[in-house]
Amino acid sequence: MMAKRSWKTRILKLRVINCIFVVLAVKAVIKFFSTYGYYNYPHLPAEVIETQLYKQISPIFITPKSKPDCKYDGILKKELSILNWEVPKTFDDFSAAGLVNGSYIPDHCTPIFSVAIIVAYRNRQRQLDIFLPYMHNFLRKQNIHYRIYLVEQQDEKIFNKGILYNVGAKVAIRDKFPCLILHDVDLLPLDESNLYVCANEPRHMSASIDKFRFVLPYDYLVGGVLALKSEHYIQVNGLSNRFEGWGGEDDDFSWRLSSQKINVIRYPREMSRYTMLRHPQERKNTRRRTVMKENQRDPATIVKDGLTSTRYTSMHVNNHRLFTHVGVVV
Ligand SMILES: *[C@@H]1O[C@H](CO)[C@@H](O)[C@H](O)[C@H]1NC(C)=O
Repeated sequence: MMAKRSWKTRILKLRVINCIFVVLAVKAVIKFFSTYGYYNYPHLPAEVIETQLYKQISPIFITPKSKPDCKYDGILKKELSILNWEVPKTFDDFSAAGLVNGSYIPDHCTPIFSVAIIVAYRNRQRQLDIFLPYMHNFLRKQNIHYRIYLVEQQDEKIFNKGILYNVGAKVAIRDKFPCLILHDVDLLPLDESNLYVCANEPRHMSASIDKFRFVLPYDYLVGGVLALKSEHYIQVNGLSNRFEGWGGEDDDFSWRLSSQKINVIRYPREMSRYTMLRHPQERKNTRRRTVMKENQRDPATIVKDGLTSTRYTSMHVNNHRLFTHVGVVV
């Protein structure tokens, strides 16, 4: 009797283990195929990219007419990429040649793009020490006129990325930049063909990040790195100022764009790879979904809350060699 019962329980145990195994295997297969779809996310074909670029230079930028127009076709076709673990962590031999007040203008040709790169920042010195030299080394090869604006929240209140981007955009638009790139400080581009300019439609640039196994997590994502015309930024009245803490403001911005029928495009994965620098996770905004729902319920939200309603205690602009510093006390 004893032997028979234990034989039965053994069979039962085996079945339970089999069941668990099958369930896990099915889950893994589903997960594989569901993420596989976004691995091959929809994008602009590489051949048409050049025809879709927003060729616009800042009108206050004086072009020395003697130089020929810069060429971009070769950059878009570059196949040079580095692997995420090849990204340098120190820049002892960094040269700041050509950089003035955070900006750069190629000296052998006349650029046809002016781009303001806006970075919302607080208390990430170690990342900044990699970001600035890495980006200048990367961008100076692209034949573009660009300027890096580091917008820093200089208070102890909860981090508000929406306000920082709005203040940065205001300064860049005042400096007559026709194109803005909203850029996380912890993301570095890996593909040399990833040309840092605007297209006629906003472009989500960081579609393929190593942190997410180079897979696009969801199709309406615009967070990370986003390039858009200043006129589109103004049209949707910038970002909401109501998101405090980590998360939400980017998905809300995605909604703002689609509510204005502005389509967001991406480039092929081979041009859109990024590495994310490690950092401790910020405190999440537990109210982010509530705020987003509130915003989307009222069609007048975009008019009431955004670039035109950004309030802060003080703001100052200081020029450094590698960046234009915009200090904001919220
Ligand atoms: C750089 O910034 C300084 C101080 O803000 C300013 O005096 C100078 O004219 C700027 N240089 C250029 C080339 O814009």
